[in-house]
Amino acid sequence: MVTIAHISDPHVGSPYFVPNLMNRVIVELNQLEPDIVVCTGDLTNEGYRNEYKNWVAYRERIAAPIVTVPGNHDARNVGYLHFEDLIGPRHWSMDVRGVRIVGADSSEPDLNDGQIGRERYDWIREQFAVDAELKIFAIHHHLLPVPGTGRERSIVNDAGDLLEVLIDAGVRMVLTGHKHVPYVWRLENIYIVNAGTCSSLRLRGYTKPCYNIVELEGDEVKIHRKFPFGGQTVLAHFSLSSGEQYHRELEALMRDVRPNASLPQE
Ligand SMILES: [Fe+2]
Ligand SMILES: [Fe+2]
Repeated sequence: MVTIAHISDPHVGSPYFVPNLMNRVIVELNQLEPDIVVCTGDLTNEGYRNEYKNWVAYRERIAAPIVTVPGNHDARNVGYLHFEDLIGPRHWSMDVRGVRIVGADSSEPDLNDGQIGRERYDWIREQFAVDAELKIFAIHHHLLPVPGTGRERSIVNDAGDLLEVLIDAGVRMVLTGHKHVPYVWRLENIYIVNAGTCSSLRLRGYTKPCYNIVELEGDEVKIHRKFPFGGQTVLAHFSLSSGEQYHRELEALMRDVRPNASLPQE
């Protein structure tokens, strides 16, 4: 089995950042021992160097390899320079046990909107022009609207064109963050997987801090949502070869985050 942990939006430096949540996520990740951790951005709150350094101190305690794309908060105050210096390249690709993962920077300095831009489409196609059991694309901004997040805004400006590029390139999963609400959409044969904020109380409605775990076993993919200190639920379960969908959480996702549900409270 290939296990990919997907964390997002830790927001170190925010008054809503909760160190205890991040510490717990680290403990759980180190127990899980995933093949890789993908972090889809908003490591910091304002892109300041000391926020990056504080994030790095947490990140260094995660035993698994970790790959990261920047979020809009990380690009504030020219923070993308600190990202390149302290975190790594803003665009990258890598292989983990037959899984191809490509990450791209969708942030624009001091804007909340997301954009990839047509000048990068050929690079994305090239990165995915390999044989892989599963091709995954990672960006910060949500590629499709996420229910339960209020007014739709700061989606990827070129979402339509990018989706077509990704579908054409054989991508089967997109990992995103930004909205702080976990959700899974299926469009054509792509699963668009949004993660919540793993360690902050920048929450919408009754959603809770959480992160996702993707498991690839043979032909089957399972996407779990995991609550620090709490349980986990299956967001989606499907077959790669036939496209058959065994399970996808819909209304339950909205219902079971209300306070009378038996899910962990802060
Ligand atoms: Fe965020
Ligand atoms: Fe964001």
